[in-house]
Amino acid sequence: MSSIRPLVAGNWKMNGVRASAAEIAAMVEWRAKAAGAFGADLMICPPATLIAQFAALLEGSGIALGGQDCHTREAGPFTGEISAPMLRDAGAAAVILGHSERRAGHGERDRDVKEKAAAAHAAGLIAIICVGETLGERRMGLTLDVIGRQLRGSLPDGCAANNTIVAYEPVWAIGSGLTPQPQEIAQAHGFIRARLADRYAEGASMRILYGGSVKPDNARHIFALPQVNGGLVGGASLKASEFCAIAAAYLA
Ligand code: PGA
Repeated sequence: MSSIRPLVAGNWKMNGVRASAAEIAAMVEWRAKAAGAFGADLMICPPATLIAQFAALLEGSGIALGGQDCHTREAGPFTGEISAPMLRDAGAAAVILGHSERRAGHGERDRDVKEKAAAAHAAGLIAIICVGETLGERRMGLTLDVIGRQLRGSLPDGCAANNTIVAYEPVWAIGSGLTPQPQEIAQAHGFIRARLADRYAEGASMRILYGGSVKPDNARHIFALPQVNGGLVGGASLKASEFCAIAAAYLA
């Protein structure tokens, strides 16, 4: 058994308005009821517009907040951008970086992700750094090459167990209802663990999350795989009922 405390994090993407606080309240209630029987950490990464509002609701709940991206700089003439210190000020403890929707849709390169991760660390945020292959890359047998390159290029020096989480998210599994075979997930996570342990003193204890079509009916199975320390959940994190059913994999 791994001694790493797992994390179930929800990535709300561009979903949620102030009234979505009802889902947050339901998650808080579920977490309070679970009490000591629950053996994981929980986090929700809503749109930045909701972080401050949700921070007030989540105070003392044991559920943390994260952003979904940040700029490399602390402040300045960058219209439309949000900095790591701003996320922190709003109540976030973490930020998702290098999600495939940003790599593909916003041209983010490994070196951009690395700079953002360093900015997150400097602001006292946990960087949740996403890596993962496309379907074409998997079919060509390039999965581990791609992940290896992304890890090398996207993770800054100074990553440690308390400031960095890696999320393995096969691009083709995101929002598709498809997931890799269990042995494929275990292979990718084992590879990521080895790379982290090679490079960082605390690489053996950094969390590695699986993301991509995690649902209530597959979560328990996926979370039980070796080197899987929880999940990054997109669509199924929007409703408290589904998110909590996924988290329930860690109920004693
Ligand atoms: P999904 O998204 O759970 O909806 O597949 C996961 C993610 O993009 O983080």
